[in-house]
Amino acid sequence: MPSLAVNIAPQHPTGLALKNPVITASGTFGYGTEYASIYDVSCLGAIAAKAVTLEPRRGNAMPRIEEVPGGMLNAIGLQNVGVEALIREKAPLWATWDVPVIANVAGASLEEYVTIAEMLDGVPGIAALELNISCPNVAHGLDFGTDPTMAGAVTEAVSERSSLPLIVKLTPNVTDMRPVATAVADAGAHALAIMNTLSGLAIDIEQKRPALATGTGGLSGPAVRSIALRFVYTVAPLVDIPIVGIGGIGTTEDALMFLMAGATAVQVGTANFYNHRAPLEIIAGLEAYCAKEGLASIQEIIGAALPQKAELSTA
Ligand SMILES: Cc1cc2nc3c(=O)[nH]c(=O)nc-3n(C[C@H](O)[C@H](O)[C@H](O)COP(=O)(O)O)c2cc1C
Repeated sequence: MPSLAVNIAPQHPTGLALKNPVITASGTFGYGTEYASIYDVSCLGAIAAKAVTLEPRRGNAMPRIEEVPGGMLNAIGLQNVGVEALIREKAPLWATWDVPVIANVAGASLEEYVTIAEMLDGVPGIAALELNISCPNVAHGLDFGTDPTMAGAVTEAVSERSSLPLIVKLTPNVTDMRPVATAVADAGAHALAIMNTLSGLAIDIEQKRPALATGTGGLSGPAVRSIALRFVYTVAPLVDIPIVGIGGIGTTEDALMFLMAGATAVQVGTANFYNHRAPLEIIAGLEAYCAKEGLASIQEIIGAALPQKAELSTA
């Protein structure tokens, strides 16, 4: 049997070993419990839980979801139970699961990111942190993610105060992701998650106003796949930490493209809403692909489509 195992935090003392490279994306898989009655979630590589904030949040006003060609716009606005309830009610269950659960952390300030990270440190059931510096749907949600200095500062502050593997989730709402990506990698991140949603808009022509109550929302789904893939491909040669690819991944072929573009693992987001078995199908598909290609390990294809370093230096 080919091995699908990957480690998405090899530079962390304990690493973050996954049995396969397929993770469910934050905000599209609830707290995992919602899907646990539908299938065995321990088959997954990992679960990225819905973003957690210091205080509980009710999220934005409705409507906050709109279907658009090739995907959806959402402006949920970080609805969540808050970090105390997460520790009290969700983490104890996660601790009994045979799958790492990653806490997606959203703060309104550097201090808040650090406080949440400290509260989650050492909590059984929390395997890693994913710093969400890339939410387009709340005021100031992109402040950290669009500025290399601020992105580096929050990464460094959290990495100094947390003993957990640290993934930093980047935004595509920049002209060039590379300065933020390298700043975050230099500041102590163990992995990069590329990417969060793209800011977008739909108009309700009957009402003559934006379809979402907030106006703009975050675009996700197959419509964004080529953009996410381009970001992974351009950032991968610049950093020596793993990349987790996210954006429009719904099939084995999609996942393979991201792995070949340099991602060590992938996250499945919007696809969970139109095919709840997509992550399982991708895991089975990757195994079949390795067997067909005669690969001993999925790791053999990571970065296969990247230009060789020599080609890059002469480009
Ligand atoms: C309804 C919804 C809620 C989301 N909530 C979060 C969140 O809480 N934290 C986060 O980092 N990303 C959140 N995302 C972004 C996804 O995790 C993912 O980065 C993005 O949707 C792109 O992947 P996809 O095209 O596979 O959906 C959300 C996306 C959707 C569609």
